[in-house]
Amino acid sequence: MTQLTSARYSRGVRVFHWLTVLLIAGAYVTVNVRTLLEKGTPERTLVMQSHFLFGLAVLLVALPRIVSRLGSKAPPIQPPPPDWMHRAGHLTHGLLYAFIIVQPLLGLVAGLVEGGVGLPGGLRIPELFGPDKALSHDLKAIHVWLGTAFYYVIGLHILAALFHLWVRRDNTLQRML
Ligand code: HEM
Ligand code: HEM
Repeated sequence: MTQLTSARYSRGVRVFHWLTVLLIAGAYVTVNVRTLLEKGTPERTLVMQSHFLFGLAVLLVALPRIVSRLGSKAPPIQPPPPDWMHRAGHLTHGLLYAFIIVQPLLGLVAGLVEGGVGLPGGLRIPELFGPDKALSHDLKAIHVWLGTAFYYVIGLHILAALFHLWVRRDNTLQRML
């Protein structure tokens, strides 16, 4: 059937999905690269500021992404997976949607209560409330924990996509391309 490969997510949903993937990859790469650079150097500051920028861009893209998703239906998966697989998918997607909002917000608010958030090019979001070092410390600890936990959730999501592609041989991934 031609429908099998032609029924894709709307253009907006697909563009926002892959744009978010790039931005999240940027956030993870930069935050890991920073550990290779010496503390206090301008290079490390720039790399960390780029982490903030990638992360804030994820948050910025999340809203139009969710609006575009609410305005269009998910195309059916063919052949249809069993119910439990649908439910597992919905649960993982719910977690991923929560992550793209909560994770950058944790980083942003941690910065807003402790000195503001510096961005590349000398831009700066000033401190808004505070200073509250204890709150900032707790928010950062949750941010680091969640960021680490989501290596596994994102990994699971990618494995599921490959499982659909290579094992079930259905059109799940093609719908997002
Ligand atoms: C989706 C977006 C984001 C992801 C996936 C993410 C991920 C991470 C991860 C994995 C770490 C821990 C790195 C490590 O030490 O192993 C981290 C640290 C950090 N992130 Fe983010 N982050 C995001 C957005 C943001 C934003 C928007 C800000 C601030 C505006 C921010 C500020 C920070 C800070 C300050 C740390 C260092 C915390 C510390 O070591 O005490 N992040 N982030
Ligand atoms: C890096 C972070 C990623 C995030 C935050 C993310 C997030 C999401 C979310 C929230 C959905 C649900 C869309 C909906 O509302 O129906 C989704 C769907 C999907 N994603 Fe990702 N994704 C990521 C990476 C990837 C990667 C790397 C792949 C491919 C290997 C991928 C493949 C897919 C596919 C095939 C779907 C459609 C699933 C379905 O309709 O059942 N994603 N993604």
